[in-house]
Amino acid sequence: MTAETVTTPASGTGEKVRVGLIGAGGIAGIAHLPTLKAHQDRVEVVGIADLDADRVTQVADEWGIAGRYGSAEELLEAQRPDLLVICTPPVAHKDAVIAGLKAGAWVWCEKPPVLTLAEYDQVASYEQEGGPYASYVFQHRFGSGAKRLREHVEAGTLGRPLVALCNTLWFRPHSYYEVPWRGKWETEGGGPAMGHGIHQIDLLLEILGPWEEITARAEVLDRKIETEDFSTAIVKFANGAVATVVTSVVSPREVSYLRFDFQDATVEVEHLYGYDNNSWRWTPAPHKEDIAEVESWKPADNVPSSHKQQLAELLDSMAAGARPRASGEDGRRTLEFIAALYQSAETGQTIRRAELTREGTYYHGMHDNTYVYGKK
Ligand SMILES: NC(=O)c1ccc[n+]([C@@H]2O[C@H](COP(=O)([O-])OP(=O)(O)OC[C@H]3O[C@@H](n4cnc5c(N)ncnc54)[C@H](O)[C@@H]3O)[C@@H](O)[C@H]2O)c1
Repeated sequence: MTAETVTTPASGTGEKVRVGLIGAGGIAGIAHLPTLKAHQDRVEVVGIADLDADRVTQVADEWGIAGRYGSAEELLEAQRPDLLVICTPPVAHKDAVIAGLKAGAWVWCEKPPVLTLAEYDQVASYEQEGGPYASYVFQHRFGSGAKRLREHVEAGTLGRPLVALCNTLWFRPHSYYEVPWRGKWETEGGGPAMGHGIHQIDLLLEILGPWEEITARAEVLDRKIETEDFSTAIVKFANGAVATVVTSVVSPREVSYLRFDFQDATVEVEHLYGYDNNSWRWTPAPHKEDIAEVESWKPADNVPSSHKQQLAELLDSMAAGARPRASGEDGRRTLEFIAALYQSAETGQTIRRAELTREGTYYHGMHDNTYVYGKK
């Protein structure tokens, strides 16, 4: 990218960060607008854009937003925000992220980041040293339980990680897929591995670090969709741990569950859409009898996993002119893992991370268009 139109975020000057939001649908109302309001001492929402003009009016009236637009470009041109928050369906992420970066705005885009690794790398080429950067919503990395567990892995205090389970067992009825962009490779980018399991997979990778090999299977078991509705994978990590990753949208008793068995402890988190410290269980191995030591494993503070905590850290990064978490390589790794999961499931091969290249079917897509789910 050339040095055109780059602005410095206002947070470094003590002024409020001016925020524009694109896509006034479900997640904007449930998560982003409440999150932005919770940070109103640091941010001001200056504009909102959606293709649906009635929705813009309704949401802008509800949240008291003055700037109302029909596209990302109109909003960016009129308001020149410091931060662009993107809540459109996945198919519209790439263009909005690039438009934001080109206009000098830092970007916080909903998951999945973009539709393919090629798109991810294209977007990254519009970033600049010191900002603006594109970052992506992976809110479950940001709770105190995950932070504490990551510290233990780095310090080796629980022994070596050996076994992990990463389960996203959710239920989405047939009616969920009546929304036109869902369940299709072209618009959602994938099935539940890409759209739902991505949260738990991101946390698994945050805790265990680089993976080396993946062997996966994906099926369409019950929903009338193009993509899978179930997948499972066995994953070998560079640190020697082995994990199974199961993602489903056909599981009536829903749970998001990760379990890590270390030499000295089992650590589990069980929740659905968000956790706090009460969702975590720290169980010592039988040879660990010092209760005070076991208590010291747990986080001292209780920060729930949330959009709110991720935004707080993003605003800090903007103020410092530093790349935020869930951005660059750190944001790419989750998309890369999911591309490899689909590649393994569709080819029947074990995929080795060291052999991945920046070309080919699963770099330019998540899916081989000649492969039809439910037919094999
Ligand atoms: N982090 C989470 O926990 C979480 C949860 C749910 C959804 N999401 C993600 O949030 C995103 C949006 O999901 P949703 O459920 O809110 O979808 P939605 O369909 O309810 O809302 C999307 C909105 O974007 C608008 N839109 C579409 N294309 C646009 C464009 N080019 N420019 C401007 N507006 C456009 C639509 O009119 C709609 O109002 C998806 O990427 C989804 O995966 C994340």
